[in-house]
Amino acid sequence: MYRTYTCGELRKEHIGTSVTLAGWAQKNRDKGGRLWIDLRDRYGLTQLMFGEGVTKEELLEEARKIGREFVLQAEGIVIERESKNPNIPTGDIEIHVDRLTILNKSEVPPFLIEDETDGGEELRMQYRYLDLRRTPVRKNLQLRHRLLQATRSYLDSEEFIEVETPYLIKSTPEGARDFVVPSRMNAGQFYALPQSPQTFKQLLMVAGFDKYFQVVRCFRDEDLRADRQPEFTQIDCEMAFVNQEDVLQVFEGFAKHVYKELKGIDLEQFPRMTYDDAIRLYGSDKPDLRFGMEFKEINDLTQSNGFVVFDSAELVVGINASGCAEYTRKQLDSLTDFVRKPQIGAKGLIYLKCNVDGTFKSSVDKFFSQEDLKTWAERFDAEPGDLLLILAGETDKTRKALNELRLEMGDQLNLRTEKEGEPIKVAPLWVLDFPLLEWDEETKRYHAMHHPFTSPKSEDIDKMETDPGAVRANAYDLVINGVEAGGGSIRIHDSKLQARMFKLLGFTEEEAKAQFGFLMEAFEYGAPPHGGIALGFDRLCAILSGQESIRDFIAFPKNNRGRDVMINSPSIISTDQLNELGLSLK
Ligand code: AMO
Repeated sequence: MYRTYTCGELRKEHIGTSVTLAGWAQKNRDKGGRLWIDLRDRYGLTQLMFGEGVTKEELLEEARKIGREFVLQAEGIVIERESKNPNIPTGDIEIHVDRLTILNKSEVPPFLIEDETDGGEELRMQYRYLDLRRTPVRKNLQLRHRLLQATRSYLDSEEFIEVETPYLIKSTPEGARDFVVPSRMNAGQFYALPQSPQTFKQLLMVAGFDKYFQVVRCFRDEDLRADRQPEFTQIDCEMAFVNQEDVLQVFEGFAKHVYKELKGIDLEQFPRMTYDDAIRLYGSDKPDLRFGMEFKEINDLTQSNGFVVFDSAELVVGINASGCAEYTRKQLDSLTDFVRKPQIGAKGLIYLKCNVDGTFKSSVDKFFSQEDLKTWAERFDAEPGDLLLILAGETDKTRKALNELRLEMGDQLNLRTEKEGEPIKVAPLWVLDFPLLEWDEETKRYHAMHHPFTSPKSEDIDKMETDPGAVRANAYDLVINGVEAGGGSIRIHDSKLQARMFKLLGFTEEEAKAQFGFLMEAFEYGAPPHGGIALGFDRLCAILSGQESIRDFIAFPKNNRGRDVMINSPSIISTDQLNELGLSLK
């Protein structure tokens, strides 16, 4: 037996027991007469003790040679510690070692393998297997494991069947570019890796599976961010004979189940908001509802006073930063700089301070009387001490910029996190009634906002050809704390309607047939009404942990340039391999 206990197990009641432990040497402390080594494994840390007079001289010498991350096996007696460590569960005891075996040596690791490390992101990714030894990183993956178990048990109890669908497929459009794989046996032809198993899950509904799920890897060649990886995992689900309400109920149940199982939190019924309202009130289709600061439009209160910025604006809109009237010139200037950043794109920021003495001070005092400013304050339900932050300009851009400013203020005022000791904030939201289509200026074409298989609302079908931009879809997103945790829709199950949709998206009949003929054909064989959703599994892990980056919840993630710096991929392949694939680089 390599070990009789793990490094996280021993307590006071084990004092006097003879034990064998195995693990990695995290840290040595040599105080002349005494030497301690922290031995670490997945389960915790246990302190090993060697002492002059109590440990044999050769053994003490041997222990002095142990470097960081050596793999050890230690045999000894559990004794009470002289100075206890209340921060770790094994902090009451230590092992008085009388036999030590070095199972393997280690090079000096390139960064500290402790909770707080000195390693930069790139270095930690290069040596990810060492980074994974660190407790916080390991805990993230343990949470991922628990979420996976909770997911399977919930969906199994709801009678979903887990089915694996292929990875070597043909393009399924989800709005990103495909990763493609050349086929050796079919020279000049390529598989596409799935952006999602969308068409397969619909075919499983035609096949009568009724309820399907899969925890599945998806591949999208798109620009990467903290919450986007080129390969990521979805909890992908589909149900037959359902309407939107049925899907929302089951997956609201799912989200409640995982919060209860993993966090011990009981969530109330999730609020719902239409896409139009989300955009109008928060400038985003994924508003963070952990705090208020709803947008208020004040076009009617600001026109014709000679202030050209407002007079020429399509939209004048603002937020109330409650309690911020004391902001200094410097703070206001830095907010102005923030909204002027190219990625935010506002031209300037107008403020109104609602002073505690009941007067108003604004950056446009020249144009507006105290009476005028009072009407603004009333629109925002502002109290003395509040600060209104206002942007003006073209509607879509101004809303987008104000969304960024709202989030920035949320961060500055600590409204998006909890104070120490407070319960974690969870703000789930269903966003409903997305538009079916989205106009793309570049290609001068409509794109499917969700994907081409999403059904239009029955009352809007008539407008598909005459006013496509106004057609709403049976599509929904689950947003948690301002992150899109999942999205889905009720699908088209009628081949004629599907053909109309492809036509709207600019496919010729031949193109639609070549790409999706198999699906249209399947719809001719008794396709049931169906719909579903896919939840971002990596994102759910991050949301549950109150973190933004999904990278920390993926064992071997890629960096922002889509590279795996540990295995150094992507990489060049040999000419032989290229030739075999019928590809040659010119
Ligand atoms: P959608 O494209 O909205 O829908 O994707 C579903 C969810 O997957 C997550 N997600 C990502 N997570 C990490 N990195 C990425 N690059 C990434 N892209 C998406 C998000 C998102 O909400 N087939 C449809 C689902 C359906 O209609 O049932 C689909 O894939 O959390």
